[in-house]
Amino acid sequence: MKNLWPVAAWLNYQRKAVTRYKVHSPFVYKLIDEVFRDKTQHIEYRSLNRIRERYARRTDRIETMDFGTAAGDKNYITRVTTVGKIVRQRTHSRKKLEFLYRMSQRFKPGTILEFGTAAGISALYLGKGSPDSRMITMEGCMGLAAVARKSFKKRKLNIEIEVGDFDAILDKVLTQTDQLDMVFLDGNHRMNPTIEYFEKCLSKANENSVFMFDDIHWSRGMSKAWKAIKKDKRVTLSIDLYWIGLVFFRPDITKQDFVIRY
Ligand SMILES: C[S@@+](CC[C@H](N)C(=O)[O-])C[C@H]1O[C@@H](n2cnc3c(N)ncnc32)[C@H](O)[C@@H]1O
Repeated sequence: MKNLWPVAAWLNYQRKAVTRYKVHSPFVYKLIDEVFRDKTQHIEYRSLNRIRERYARRTDRIETMDFGTAAGDKNYITRVTTVGKIVRQRTHSRKKLEFLYRMSQRFKPGTILEFGTAAGISALYLGKGSPDSRMITMEGCMGLAAVARKSFKKRKLNIEIEVGDFDAILDKVLTQTDQLDMVFLDGNHRMNPTIEYFEKCLSKANENSVFMFDDIHWSRGMSKAWKAIKKDKRVTLSIDLYWIGLVFFRPDITKQDFVIRY
């Protein structure tokens, strides 16, 4: 049966979402104005968007292992497809990728951790947004990780790729990381794993960290995960943009939850 949850969640979002004029938090107002709504054509966009388009047209074939929701009830399934098809199916739109670039540029995180590299496109935007950050990205599919690794090497980017199931490699990645200033969770969009990854990453969060959860209304389970994450007492600020949810841990804010249209 077709998943109608995103439609219901979209209507709910439309009903609740407010514009910046209804936002009284100076921090959030500035974020909307200077990051979410920033229309500057940043110089890096052009080359990044060109790479995304070029990868979306690639016809070379790879064997992929599908994890997470793509594998249904199984741990993973394998199939042969083209790099272009994977990029078209799994990578975000230009608008969303440019948003990630601006988030990274704005917060200049010391360390960024991404769950779900695929062909490495979003990692490029995050990495280019803040070139001095340590960028780590995790991917379970070896074929895709190889495509991403080649891309980073070609562009002389020092982006670290950890290959394996998140469940198997996350603990090791966390022991090699002093702190996580930005986390982008873009893989295995299921309720329990999402909450578990959040909990684990929290051990490395600091008061200036920002965690970003993709597809928070993709399914009923993901909406429930988002609700649980927002409720966590360590989260002081949550922002729902429908396609992505952001949480902050800043101590100078009394707990607030926003649904924003921008
Ligand atoms: C939506 S795609 C990531 C897209 C990428 N962030 C981008 O925008 O270019 C999600 C990726 O997460 C990987 N993934 C999902 N569940 C996983 C798991 N449990 N362990 C490792 N990788 C996983 C999939 O193989 C897939 O490539």
